[in-house]
This record gives sequence, structure tokens and C-alpha cells, in this order.
Amino acid sequence: MTVKESCPHLRSVILSSGSYLPEKILTNADLESMVDTTDEWIVQRTGIRQRHVACETETTAFMATQAARRALDHAGLAGADIDGVILGTSTPDLTVPGVAVSVQAALGVGLGPCFDVQAACSGFLYALSVADSLIRTGAGRRFLVIGAEKFSSILDWTDRRTCILFGDGAGAVVLAADESGAGTLEDRGVLKTILHSNGALRDILRTTGGTASTGTVGHILMEGQEVFRHAVTCMAGAVDEMIRETGVDPAAIKWLLPHQANIRIIESIARKLSLPMDRVIVTLDRHGNTSAASIPLAMAEAMADGRIRSGDLVLIEAMGAGLSWGAALVRF
Ligand code: UT7
Repeated sequence: MTVKESCPHLRSVILSSGSYLPEKILTNADLESMVDTTDEWIVQRTGIRQRHVACETETTAFMATQAARRALDHAGLAGADIDGVILGTSTPDLTVPGVAVSVQAALGVGLGPCFDVQAACSGFLYALSVADSLIRTGAGRRFLVIGAEKFSSILDWTDRRTCILFGDGAGAVVLAADESGAGTLEDRGVLKTILHSNGALRDILRTTGGTASTGTVGHILMEGQEVFRHAVTCMAGAVDEMIRETGVDPAAIKWLLPHQANIRIIESIARKLSLPMDRVIVTLDRHGNTSAASIPLAMAEAMADGRIRSGDLVLIEAMGAGLSWGAALVRF
């Protein structure tokens, strides 16, 4: 008997979330004394006012573990109740092994699959889709899905075009199997994920080095306007595709939960969906762009403060280096 036959409506649901932000905050005013920039330029062009920056002991694994522990606490679960860890990051502490196994060891997670997914700012969305697929195919019942980044370690702090954009942090969710649904859009859980990438555009957002080329991690380099242009078209395309493929009525979407890169990009997607900005979850002003961590950080905040409630339909969208992009439709 196939999994499909035995559990026709097996899907994954987000049980809980947790987050971790480093204590140190770097404001736009702080950056004014480091590079030739102004608070006014940063706020107008990006929407960012401050970001958190990790200290030496706040490694990617440390932040991921803290966020995951909080997600477990919120679900009333222990590490041993979890089958595996899928972790989106582009800033692992070591080249080998991945960060996910450090989280596994720290929390006593079972001996299932624990691995990192490198899809830059789309990392959490990709990790969510992978974990959802693992659950749907019966490879495990509960996974920690994490986005964790220490982008401060790959920034050129003399490059005003990039160092003002990024921040550090981690967010995590507990994703669990559920068979209660009827196979409709009214079900709880991850209803659909859409993933895309286009390697022809790999050079417009990249690092200047890597383990197998320069032997260093390098620094982030970005052709800002080009990335901006593609971010708008790629994410708008993914949103269109989601609406077309699921038949979801955009008016039924309670929250847009976008990757937090630039407020102008977020506003253009909200306009496309005719969603007022008070139905969009924004943390960009306080967190900056935390790459793979941005979506789970924003999700954890909105779940904790009661904006995202049980039954809410949430549209997630992300875009990052690769280019990689996509969307997920989730009912909480
Ligand atoms: O998370 C992955 C996806 N990433 C993104 O989606 C990021 C997409 N890109 C962006 O968000 C924007 O392109 C940026 C925020 C990075 C840049 O904004 P922009 O409006 O595209 O500015 P620009 O790069 O066209 O630069 C305009 C001017 C330039 O000066 P000139 O050549 O006109 O004299 C830049 O040198 O602004 C200058 N500039 C700055 N000025 C003050 C660039 N960075 C700064 C700065 N402070 N920090």
C-alpha cells in the first residue's frame, strides 16, 4: 500500500515557532559613523532602521538552537519528539558538517535526516518545502525547520551598498504530520509550495569567495537595481502561479508574509494582491534583511503577538541569490 493510499490527506502543519535575535543592535545612526551613508537614505531606499548583529559566541548553530528550543517549548515537545532538522543557511559555522547536526546534538533530536539547505534568502522556504515533502512521503512525523544566518560575517563593512542591508538572527518552526484534513484549501497546514531558480542570474548576487575557490568565505556583492527588478517580477510571478494553481481567492489571504529585503519590494507585492499594508507582516525596519532567517523570524513574531491565529491563511514569498525564489500557502 502506498503512503497516498494509507493516508490520503497526509500533510504537514506548523505547530509552533520560536526565534532568536542577538542582543547587539546596530542602528542607521551607528552606520553613519562607519560608511558614507545617512539614516534618511537607508530608510527611504530600504525601510530599514536597525538590525541585530551577533557577537563571537552567537554562532549560527547557537542562534538556530535557541530559536528551535523556543519553538519546541511553545509546542510542549522535547528534542526526542523530533525526527529531523532541515535548516536554511548561507552562513554555516563550518564548511562541514552542516549546522543542522549541531542543533540535533544540542537538543537531543532523533537520528533522522538533519541537513542544511543553501538557497540564500529563499533558504527557509526551500527548507519548509523539503520538510513538507519528507512528511508527505512518510520519512518522518515531526521536523524542526529553521532559518539561521550570521550575515555580519560575510559583509564588507566598508561597502555602503551592502553592509546597511543585512542582519543576524534565527527563526524555527515545528512541522508535524496531520491527517485530519479533507484535501481542500480549508485544511490546516502547508497547502502548496512553489520553488524556482535561475542560475543564469547567479552573478548579480554572490560572494567574492568560497571554500573550494579562494579558500575564504568572501564578501557579499550585489548589483542592487538588477536584483530589485528581478525580485519584483519573480515574486509577483510566484504569487500569480500560486493563485492559478490552487484557485485561492486573494481576498481569503489573511496575511502576506514576505522575505524582508526592501519595503518597496514588499509594498509592490501587497499592491498586486490588493492587500493593505496592515495585512502584511513587516519586521524589516527592526531586523534588516536576515536572509534565510527573515521569514521564520517574522512568523514567530506574528504568532507570538496574536496576529497570526489558528485558521488564518498565510501567503509566504521569498527571493534570494541564485537566483532562487518561490512561495508557500499555509493555513495555521
Ligand atoms: O535578499 C535578497 C534579495 N535582495 C534584494 O531584494 C535587494 C534588492 N535591491 C535593493 O533593495 C536596492 O537596489 C538597494 C537598497 C540595494 C539599493 O537601492 P537603489 O535605490 O537601487 O540604489 P542604487 O543602487 O541605484 O544607488 C543609488 C545611489 C547611488 O549613487 P549615484 O551613483 O546615483 O551617485 C549609490 O552609490 O545611491 C548610492 N548609495 C548610497 N547612498 C547612501 C548606495 N548605497 C548607499 C548608501 N547610502 N548606503
